[in-house]
Amino acid sequence: MDNKNIEQTFVFIKPDALKNSLTGYVLSKFSEFHTGLHFAGTRIVHVCRMLAEEHYAEHKGKVFYEPLLEYILGNLHYPGDPGKQRVIAIVYQGPNAVKEVRRIAGPTNPNNARNDSPGCIRSMGAVVPIIDDDGKAIGQRMDNLIHASATVEEAEREIKLWFRPTDIPPVMHMFPTEVCEEYYYFKEGKLFTEHVPGSICFLAPGNMVWKSDLEALQMLNKNSPAPCSLETVVAKYLVNES
Ligand code: RTP
Ligand code: MG
Repeated sequence: MDNKNIEQTFVFIKPDALKNSLTGYVLSKFSEFHTGLHFAGTRIVHVCRMLAEEHYAEHKGKVFYEPLLEYILGNLHYPGDPGKQRVIAIVYQGPNAVKEVRRIAGPTNPNNARNDSPGCIRSMGAVVPIIDDDGKAIGQRMDNLIHASATVEEAEREIKLWFRPTDIPPVMHMFPTEVCEEYYYFKEGKLFTEHVPGSICFLAPGNMVWKSDLEALQMLNKNSPAPCSLETVVAKYLVNES
């Protein structure tokens, strides 16, 4: 790898883009030919509520939070059709990847995108009113086709939230990994190091993990304050588990 400020960033193609057959368009806009970026990882993800909540934790409590979760879960564009409720999660790598991808994505609000940056991906999105039980408009939902990390720090958090190290070729790893030496189980928001009935084993000895996740698990296991929640670590292992 050369030293041209190589970064990784995280994108996901949202359910409205899938529904409108814009996947190829988005991938083409981000192609190596146009951007100098290349794929480091991809996953088709049936987003569970835990993952959506962790991803958008910064927006919890805002008027658009619940509609945003419903949007990302695919419940709005594919109601009652779980087979189509998915997003395409991508790690892109290349020079100034974070800024470059945000530039091509454009402003968060599709109306602003159309005004300020015609031709950007989000200029093809929609702004949808959020209506309360009395029929009053109380806010806006922004169906803006893709997510893109806003900063290098956010990209690291999000790549580790959505991807296991083994989803990315080892030569492309940009964050330290470690081999797990314990069993870790999850049940109803709690961590266990031995199997309890109904728990899910999400890590076993020999599994490759993000070093920061392992450190967080070791702290959580001792009930010490950890740098992230248990759900942040666990969510990626439960992706596409039935
Ligand atoms: P994203 O995280 O999806 O890439 O978008 P962003 O950085 O441009 O914007 P962010 O502030 O992180 O918001 C995340 C998503 O929440 C919805 N949103 N709605 N009604 C509103 O004021 C509002 N603000 C944000 C959008 O769907 C946005 O993509
Ligand atoms: Mg954001």
